[in-house]
Amino acid sequence: MIAGQAGETACIQDMCLDQSVHPEEFSELFKEAMSRFPSGVTIATTHDQAGRNWGFTASSFCSLSVDPPLVLVCLVNSADCHVAFQTAGRWAINVLAHDHRHLALRFATKGADKFSGDEFDYTEEHIPILRDSVVSTVCDAYERYPGGDHVILVGKVVRVLLREREPLVHHARRFARLEY
Ligand SMILES: Cc1cc2nc3c(=O)[nH]c(=O)nc-3n(C[C@H](O)[C@H](O)[C@H](O)COP(=O)(O)O)c2cc1C
Repeated sequence: MIAGQAGETACIQDMCLDQSVHPEEFSELFKEAMSRFPSGVTIATTHDQAGRNWGFTASSFCSLSVDPPLVLVCLVNSADCHVAFQTAGRWAINVLAHDHRHLALRFATKGADKFSGDEFDYTEEHIPILRDSVVSTVCDAYERYPGGDHVILVGKVVRVLLREREPLVHHARRFARLEY
C-alpha cells in the first residue's frame, strides 16, 4: 500500500496479480480501473454479404497512424457482430454526440433491433453512417490482430465526415458532457 495520502489523492485499492489474489477479484478491479479512463463513445457499423447491417458501441476507438491514416477499435470475440467485422472489407466508426446516449445503449444491447430508427444514411457500399454524429470515418479493413478476448480491428480511413457537435463522454460507467 502506498501510504501517506489523503482525500481525493488517497489510493483506495492496491492489488497485485499473485497467488494470494482471486483472479475474479483482480478482474473486477481491472475493469473498474479501466472505467476511470474517460473516453468518447462510438458506434462501429458495417454491412455483410447477406445484406444485413451490424454495429456495436465502442469506447476503445483510438487513432493509430497519420501516414497512412489508421484508426483502431477493439471488439470482444463473443459479440454477435464478431464474424461480420472479422470478414468485412469496410466499416464506419461514428463518434456519438451528447444526445446519443440512447444509441450508445441500444448498440450495446445484444439482440436489439439496432437499425430500426431513422438515424443512419448509407454509403454506396451500404455502410451505415450516423447522420448527426460528431465525426464519422469510413475505413477499409487494414489489419486484424488478436488481443486476448478481443480482436483489434485496424482500419485505413478513406472518408471523414465532421460536424460541429458536442461529444458524448463515458467515465466510470456513466455518460457525461464536456465542461470547458
Ligand atoms: C460505453 C460502452 C462502451 C463499450 N465499448 C466496447 C468496446 O470498445 N468493445 C467491445 O467489444 N464492446 C464494447 N462495449 C460493449 C458492446 O457494445 C456490446 O457488448 C455489444 O452488444 C456487442 O455487440 P453484439 O450486440 O453484436 O454482441 C461497450 C458498451 C458500452 C455501453
